[in-house]
Amino acid sequence: MTVRIIGAPTDYGANRRGVDMGPSAIRYAGLAEELADAGIDSRDHGDLAVPRAEELDSDRDAPETGSAKFLRETADVCSRLADEVSEALAVGDVPLVLGGDHSIGIGSLGGSARNADIGAIWFDAHADLNTPETTLSGNVHGMPLSAALGYGAFADMPWATAPRFRAENLVLVGLRSVDPAERELIEERDIAAYTMSEIDDRGISAVVEEAIATASAGVDGIHVSLDLDWLDPTEAPGVGTPVRGGATYREAHAAMEHVAASGALRSMEMVEINPTLDQHNGTAELATELAASAFGKTVL
Ligand code: ARG
Ligand code: MN
Ligand code: MN
Ligand code: MN
Repeated sequence: MTVRIIGAPTDYGANRRGVDMGPSAIRYAGLAEELADAGIDSRDHGDLAVPRAEELDSDRDAPETGSAKFLRETADVCSRLADEVSEALAVGDVPLVLGGDHSIGIGSLGGSARNADIGAIWFDAHADLNTPETTLSGNVHGMPLSAALGYGAFADMPWATAPRFRAENLVLVGLRSVDPAERELIEERDIAAYTMSEIDDRGISAVVEEAIATASAGVDGIHVSLDLDWLDPTEAPGVGTPVRGGATYREAHAAMEHVAASGALRSMEMVEINPTLDQHNGTAELATELAASAFGKTVL
């Protein structure tokens, strides 16, 4: 197995500048070395070209399509990312996408679901299930799952919908900040969702084992999306939208080790690292360690 590293340095979907530096920060933290030390082969395919917001004529704060900022630019990046991801899979590589804000999940899911049925585990403080109709912020990083599933206005956007990915194979893990409309959608579509309190009660291993079973039931593989704000801000301060009460260092590692043990991992992404808010690149370093665990690093 070769891990194909693909950088997607966007910040179109986030309300703060800085997450576009995520791919550099993760590489600088020693991703390739961390993987190599664990005996995991990787190849870095560099970053997708992402024009800076300042170079565009659109006004960042002015909603363009409904209420989704930079939707045109997001569509462009995600279409190219989906191509990269599906090309990697076609030659037998496992794509590891480095964000960038979480809107790039639209491209990762789209590419991963192009030639296979997939499930997804979304490790995140947030549900990322808003639509251009329900969003309170207009930030597309709060919408990638609705986009991939074709909800709301996304139903008419073929670039956004992941062809072979269904809600019954989506599992949200680690929720602690959910908007009212997202809560309704989770209920309505019967989406599997675990809050932090459920992790407190049942333990991370039981929850993640169940999540893997649900996500991988009847499909060819799973996409694992790791929003670093899933972790507690004391462990991962360098994120755009921190929420207290997140996963610990050990819980996060245990979760990734279960992912590796499942043998179901098809594609992965790590998003929302904001180096301008980080402490000595610690959040990016943590991301490299978690990636190594997800791809099978063991102690003995
Ligand atoms: N629910 C909020 C919104 O729609 C926050 C989303 C945060 N998403 C993220 N990927 N960090 O704006
Ligand atoms: Mn989040
Ligand atoms: Mn997210
Ligand atoms: Mn290290």
